[in-house]
Amino acid sequence: MSRAALGDTVVLGIETSCDETGVGIVRRRQDGTVELLADEIASSVDEHARFGGVVPEVASRAHLEAMVPTVRRALDIAGVKPSDVDAVAVTAGPGLAGALLVGLAAAKAYAVAWDVPLYGVNHLGAHVAVDTVEHGPLDRPTLALLVSGGHSSLLEVTSLAAPIRTLGATIDDAAGEAFDKVARLLGLPFPGGPHIDRVARDGDPAAIAFPRGLTGPRDAIYDFSFSGLKTAVARWVEARQRDGVDVPVADVAASFQEAVVDVLTAKAIRAATDSGIDQLLIGGGVAANSRLRALAQTRCDNAGITLRVPRPKLCTDNGAMVAALGSHLVAAGVAPSRLDLPTDSAMPLTRVTA
Ligand code: KG4
Ligand code: ZN
Repeated sequence: MSRAALGDTVVLGIETSCDETGVGIVRRRQDGTVELLADEIASSVDEHARFGGVVPEVASRAHLEAMVPTVRRALDIAGVKPSDVDAVAVTAGPGLAGALLVGLAAAKAYAVAWDVPLYGVNHLGAHVAVDTVEHGPLDRPTLALLVSGGHSSLLEVTSLAAPIRTLGATIDDAAGEAFDKVARLLGLPFPGGPHIDRVARDGDPAAIAFPRGLTGPRDAIYDFSFSGLKTAVARWVEARQRDGVDVPVADVAASFQEAVVDVLTAKAIRAATDSGIDQLLIGGGVAANSRLRALAQTRCDNAGITLRVPRPKLCTDNGAMVAALGSHLVAAGVAPSRLDLPTDSAMPLTRVTA
């Protein structure tokens, strides 16, 4: 009898939507708890740094080279044999088409070789699902703030295996993109988010009053805009440089960061309150930001909202999140994907699985 039939499901997840080759393995128990057995990552971030952004071709090639060793390492660390794996999950989209293709081709090969079902999953849904690895099953409707290098969205999640309703999203840059662009103009390395986070600790968040995008009375209440903020920071820095004055990097970083996290947390809490939802979950790479985590906690406490944010390593792209979502799909009895499943670089959240 298989483990799945006994109620214990082991799922291996593969993530290759951007520059991290992630392989995670989880065990989902019958009571709905998900145990993380391995979370291995091979990153090509250093190869992209000198270009100031992810180069798709370089990322695809790096995934190809890293895939088999990363899968082997994850199996070793988890102490799991291929015959113990009940299902393979893989990011089908959204993401870079070539990068997704490498992960999907590998996942299909493992699913066929091990004779287990394949689940093509939505990367954004996986960013939400990963929190269950740390904080247990999603027990009630949850408002999710998803903030990454490619997305900034407010989502209403009723079940991890069901379509997710998007309440609002960025109309231009994603929050992570804004962090990366502002870091670049401050001369900080790529990806800039963690560097802004670090440098801002020595700065004054109230030093410069940068604009809060889409917070006017007639603006869309749940949408975000960060490109005006990025331009405002650029103009402010350029004016100092023109005058030959030193740029106070820590103050600029802290003030910029404050403008971003102020809007993100205010809109998330507004959306939760308006929807009658008392739980906020933050996911995606920017959820690793220390100021975002702190301000969200303060504002959730004041509003009587429970806050769930996974530990920073689970916020940025990883394979555990894909395995976690896959394990919930298996448990919910969702049909596996077909083996000729294509990648979908613009996959919408109306499809958690492909
Ligand atoms: O979720 P993720 O790893 O990849 C995407 O799906 O996009 O997010 C990457 C983004 C990058 O823009 C990176 O700068 C940002 O997350 N990020 C951070 C922090 N750590 C990563 N932004 C702000 N503060 C951080 N500590
Ligand atoms: Zn991501």
